[in-house]
Amino acid sequence: MSIKDNFRLAMRRYIYSVSIMSNKDNADNPNAITVSSVTSISMNPPSLLICINKSSRIHDTIELGSKFCINLLNSNQQNLSNICSDEEMYDQRFKDKNWNLDDIPFLQNAQANIFCKVDKLTSYHTHTIVVGLVEEANYADEISTLTYVDGEYK
Ligand SMILES: Cc1cc2nc3c(=O)[nH]c(=O)nc-3n(C[C@H](O)[C@H](O)[C@H](O)COP(=O)(O)O)c2cc1C
Repeated sequence: MSIKDNFRLAMRRYIYSVSIMSNKDNADNPNAITVSSVTSISMNPPSLLICINKSSRIHDTIELGSKFCINLLNSNQQNLSNICSDEEMYDQRFKDKNWNLDDIPFLQNAQANIFCKVDKLTSYHTHTIVVGLVEEANYADEISTLTYVDGEYK
């Protein structure tokens, strides 16, 4: 087995929480992508990072100073995760009635919404590491997060 195979199988043993990153481009069009790479960085200042593939549609809309939301999904939102991670379903990404598209797009019924401003962008081969400065955060009282392990939702 190659290092890549072993690394992939090692990472499949992690339990991920599933989020949708959402934003608007300069022409006011909403974008959304399913992500599991969200990690908090610090409380001083409140900040997080996400790794975004350069080949994804949303990638080039993420600019220094631009705003986005991380929507942590509920266990009953697997369908939304599928839609936002499948190129073929691109036209369905904002069909869900719980999207609020007035300003920064966010899912009103998510486990949590973390609103950020892009503070730093670091290119690393296929991906860009996006550092977000947290501007606002809210959350549901009951904890029921959508998780992903060994290539499957749990
Ligand atoms: C559970 C899960 C987690 C994912 N996490 C990430 C991630 O952290 N970063 C990323 O760039 N793509 C991630 N992806 C892949 C993208 O969601 C997928 O490639 C998407 O189709 C890209 O957006 P696009 O179709 O608009 O180009 C993930 C997919 C799934 C199912």
